[in-house]
Amino acid sequence: MVVASFANSLLGGRTALRQAQAQQSRSAARAQPVRAAATVAEKDASLGFKTMRSGIKEAAAESVLTPRFYTTDFDEMEELFSLEKNPNLDMDEFDAMLSEFKTDYNQTHFVRNETFKKAADNITGPARKIFIEFLERSCTAEFSGFLLYKELGRRLKKTNPVVAEIFTLMSRDEARHAGFLNKAMSDFNLALDLGFLTKNRKYTFFKPQYIFYATYLSEKIGYWRYISIYRHLQRNPDNQLYPLFEYFENWCQDENRHGDFFSAILKSQPQFLDGWTSKLWSRFFCLSVYVTMYLNDHQRSAFYESLGLETTQFNRHVIIETNKTTARIFPEVPDCETPEFWDQMEKLIVLNKKLVAIGQSDAPAILKNLQRLPVVERFAAELLQLFIGKAVASGADGIDSSAPIPVY
Ligand SMILES: [Fe+2]
Ligand SMILES: [Fe+2]
Repeated sequence: MVVASFANSLLGGRTALRQAQAQQSRSAARAQPVRAAATVAEKDASLGFKTMRSGIKEAAAESVLTPRFYTTDFDEMEELFSLEKNPNLDMDEFDAMLSEFKTDYNQTHFVRNETFKKAADNITGPARKIFIEFLERSCTAEFSGFLLYKELGRRLKKTNPVVAEIFTLMSRDEARHAGFLNKAMSDFNLALDLGFLTKNRKYTFFKPQYIFYATYLSEKIGYWRYISIYRHLQRNPDNQLYPLFEYFENWCQDENRHGDFFSAILKSQPQFLDGWTSKLWSRFFCLSVYVTMYLNDHQRSAFYESLGLETTQFNRHVIIETNKTTARIFPEVPDCETPEFWDQMEKLIVLNKKLVAIGQSDAPAILKNLQRLPVVERFAAELLQLFIGKAVASGADGIDSSAPIPVY
């Protein structure tokens, strides 16, 4: 999942270093890559990545902006999906979704061909490093979804077998996505040890309500990212540096289906769509996801440029489209189509650059912390400005189709 990293930090997310379930480890092992040859890995050592062993990359250090692994209150989840306790569960809709997931449209889609390795070998220098970083972020995010959905499928089996099976089938999709990305990483001689990550990475606790907002947004923003990259490369085939992107058209349909499932879940939990607190949380999670993506991508604009994309334009398009999609179900979303919104986002980029520069300087740790303080304060103030900025009342019943669309 591309998840709301800012949300963890701002909520002071309860994190727990959990030993993951043995079952998860076994499933994780299935998504593991083939190791690459040591000699080529040595050649890649100049890229500055640390390895755990030959061909296996040490995971990037966790930060506010890196994808997280999530856990939740599974007892509360069981209550929410109990047919006896929740009269709002539309089982006809879930049954229809289950049969669609069982159809497994992408069963034969993720098959690699001989062009991958050669294309990877042709990506050299700084572009190679940013490619590997992109693959690692994407693989970790997909794998995070796999772990959470797998566990939900297991825990809800008795309470609601239909919903449980959908979660299990979604974890099938995410394992495929993560495995495909990890194989791509092995083309660059640096794969991830997903079994090791399962057992050793921190798990962030989100209560079910937050999981629903965050996963809905992650899936939909994932859809818009993949389809936008795919369409751009269809129009500009010369920028197709690596065959992975050719798979994005069908791949993004998986993410779209996952998002639609969370939309059905939210409809079955009207308490998370009604009232002022739901509106505030909806807006908060939208902003967390948008800000995380905007800052992350602008920190790595060279990657998007290597594909011929203009980072700011690409990000704005993805955020605006995700926001429009989200407005169909969330009770409130930020108004992303005003110049003020983007001015605020630009201010965050400037402040984030300052924070990165401080982090990379040779100053002693104590001095770095002192230098960070006013910047972090400013950053928090700008975030607050975004949060109290213009919002759009939305939701399935609240859309006013005659309202003019603001131009920025
Ligand atoms: Fe995925
Ligand atoms: Fe997904």
